Amino acid sequence: MHIRPEAEADIPGIRRVNVEAFANHPFSRQTEHLIVEELRRAGALSVSLVAVDEDGGVVGHIAFSPMKIDGRECSLMMVGPLAVLPHLQRQGTGSALVRAGLEAIRAMGAEGCALVGDPAFYTRLGFVNTEALRMEGVPQQYILAMFWSGQEMCGSIGHHPAFNVQPE
Ligand SMILES: CC(C)(COP(=O)(O)OP(=O)(O)OC[C@H]1O[C@@H](n2cnc3c(N)ncnc32)[C@H](O)[C@@H]1OP(=O)(O)O)[C@@H](O)C(=O)NCCC(=O)NCCS
Repeated sequence: MHIRPEAEADIPGIRRVNVEAFANHPFSRQTEHLIVEELRRAGALSVSLVAVDEDGGVVGHIAFSPMKIDGRECSLMMVGPLAVLPHLQRQGTGSALVRAGLEAIRAMGAEGCALVGDPAFYTRLGFVNTEALRMEGVPQQYILAMFWSGQEMCGSIGHHPAFNVQPE
C-alpha cells in the first residue's frame, strides 16, 4: 500500500472507494463521492490523497478543504471525507491516510484542522474533542480538532458549500 496525491486517472477509483465505504454508514447521506467531486470542481480540494495497492488500484482516499469559522476564512482545514474499501479496512490504511494528510496540510501552512467524525477513530490519531468549535446540528461529541499553533480557535465551523450537495 502506497499513499500519494490523486492523479486524474484515480478519479473513478476515488468515486468507487467513497461509494462503497459509505454504502451502509449510519450517518451518511451517500453523497461523499459527490462532495469530493464538487470540491474538485470548485477548486477547493486542497489536499486529496489516495492509498493505492500494488496494481495501482485506489483502495483508500482522504480529502481536505478550506473551512470557515464564524463565516470568515481561517487557517484550519476541514478533514474528510475519508474512506477505505470495506474489505481492506482495519489494516492501518485509514490511519496512514490521515497522518499523510496532516503532514501535507501542515506543510501548506495550516494551523490545524477539524472534522465531524467518530471520536474513537480520530482521538487515536491525536484529535481532541473540543468545546471551542461548534457546528449547527452536530452533537458536540462528534466535533474533533487538532491545533498546531498552540492556540485553540473558537467559533462556529462552516464547511465548503460542496458538502451540501444533494444525493443523486
Ligand atoms: C473509518 C475508516 C476510513 C478507517 O479506515 P481503516 O483503514 O479501517 O483504518 P485503520 O485500519 O487505520 O483502523 C484503525 C481503527 O479504526 C477502527 N475501525 C476501522 N474500521 C472499522 C470498522 N469497520 N468498524 C469499527 N471500527 C473500525 C478500529 O478501532 C481500528 O482499530 P483496530 O483495528 O485496532 O480496532 C474506514 O473504516 C471507512 O472507510 N469507514 C467507512 C467510511 C467512514 O466512516 N469514514 C470516516 C467518516 S468520519
